[in-house]
Amino acid sequence: MVNKDLLKYSFERVEKYIDSNNDDSSPVVKFRTSAELSEIFNFPVAEEGASYSEFTDYIEQYLEYSVRTGNKQFLNQLYSGFNFPAFLGEVFTVAANTSMYTYEVAPVATMIEKEMINLMNSYAGYKSGDGIFVTGGSNANLVAMLSARNRVFPEGRFEGYDNNLQLKAFVNEQAHYSFETAANVLGVGSKNVIKVKADKNGKLIPSELEKALSESVARGERPFFVAATCATTLAGAYDPIDEMAEICRKYHVWLHADGSFGGSVILSDKHRHLMKGIEMTDSFAWNPHKLMNIPLICSVLLVNRKETLYRNITDINTDYIFHDIDEVEDLGKKSIQCGRRVDAVKLWFAWKYYGKKGYRERIDNSMAMAKYAEDVVKRDPNLELLIDRQSFTVCFRYVPSGDIDLNTFNLELRENMRKSGRSIVNYGYIGKTLALRLVIANSGVEESDIDLFFNHLSATASDMINNR
Ligand SMILES: Cc1ncc(COP(=O)(O)O)c(C=O)c1O
Repeated sequence: MVNKDLLKYSFERVEKYIDSNNDDSSPVVKFRTSAELSEIFNFPVAEEGASYSEFTDYIEQYLEYSVRTGNKQFLNQLYSGFNFPAFLGEVFTVAANTSMYTYEVAPVATMIEKEMINLMNSYAGYKSGDGIFVTGGSNANLVAMLSARNRVFPEGRFEGYDNNLQLKAFVNEQAHYSFETAANVLGVGSKNVIKVKADKNGKLIPSELEKALSESVARGERPFFVAATCATTLAGAYDPIDEMAEICRKYHVWLHADGSFGGSVILSDKHRHLMKGIEMTDSFAWNPHKLMNIPLICSVLLVNRKETLYRNITDINTDYIFHDIDEVEDLGKKSIQCGRRVDAVKLWFAWKYYGKKGYRERIDNSMAMAKYAEDVVKRDPNLELLIDRQSFTVCFRYVPSGDIDLNTFNLELRENMRKSGRSIVNYGYIGKTLALRLVIANSGVEESDIDLFFNHLSATASDMINNR
């Protein structure tokens, strides 16, 4: 039974919450330790159901202490921002609550998913491609590696993995950790993911890839999978796909493009050259839940050949589910999930709302704002740019005068900002140097938001220096 009062309250509360995303004075997070949260919240589930006021209190508390990823000072992660039409798509698909396995239960969503796959394939230049919505970039990478494994070793689908095959995968040394997980899940083993050297900007060096492949072949191993990262998680570097494609062709190795973070750059006429050669890849992981700001999860694996995904599935002779109604393919027949959320519709709502032009402009704006942030860093004598900006991230640190350990100082600076709730920025290591990583993933970010971030940073650093 729907409680109409609670529904009305909830929608009004959502409206207020969304409005407050644009309020600079509301914190990104009201930071509390886990012990404090346990004091504030009544986490255990009771025997009796909650009253109206208890229930609305839970909603209030949840919103109050959760991180506001739609706030423009949330610059911490590769996803951020609030996408209004996609939010509506999420609400309506959850209201309908269909599962993507069959046309029978998801007729409209099936047609929309097919349309989105076709559209995304047209950007990738996959002329007779296919694709499937998956549960994130990590799983897109997993299904890509599975597809590559099934190409070189189709019997493995039935017989299991034979270690004597010595399958080897090759990725940028700065590639995402999900490739090791994929190798682990597939029985290939994470040790068989070979890290290829990158240049000073984080891009894989093609001659190093060629060397690694030829050495592997000389050892009697079987290279089966290469991934180009577009863009790397910390530096935002794009691997040279076109050069890698030539090498992979020579060695007959599957080439995957991990565009989980930066794949959406393909929407921009100005910047899509970063993915030059994408049409020569075998598969492409593209996460609209990152740079397209679609609410999590919205992630796609595209494949260059139509039959690829069907070949991954070993037994679909399940007459209790796939009834082949209306001559439309059941998307479940090419998915490693059975029940599957409708993630295509929120993307379709957003793409319809903004149009292709709107999305082009949104990506261009994110890139322009990353450049603006880089320029601020270059101008400020207290800041040091640690790596030339490659795309949507800026890696830098604060350099106070005096004999101060810079890693310790910058980590404390980041933690102080996070705990104050004013701005959240993440960090990682370039070699042994701690780098603050500012990400422009929210395409609604403006210059004034970046100025505000650097004001917070300077004020926090000054307080730290004065209190020494
Ligand atoms: C380059 C890269 N690949 C893969 C992933 C994993 O994507 P997801 O978080 O959607 O699993 C990430 C996440 O940040 C990433 O940066």
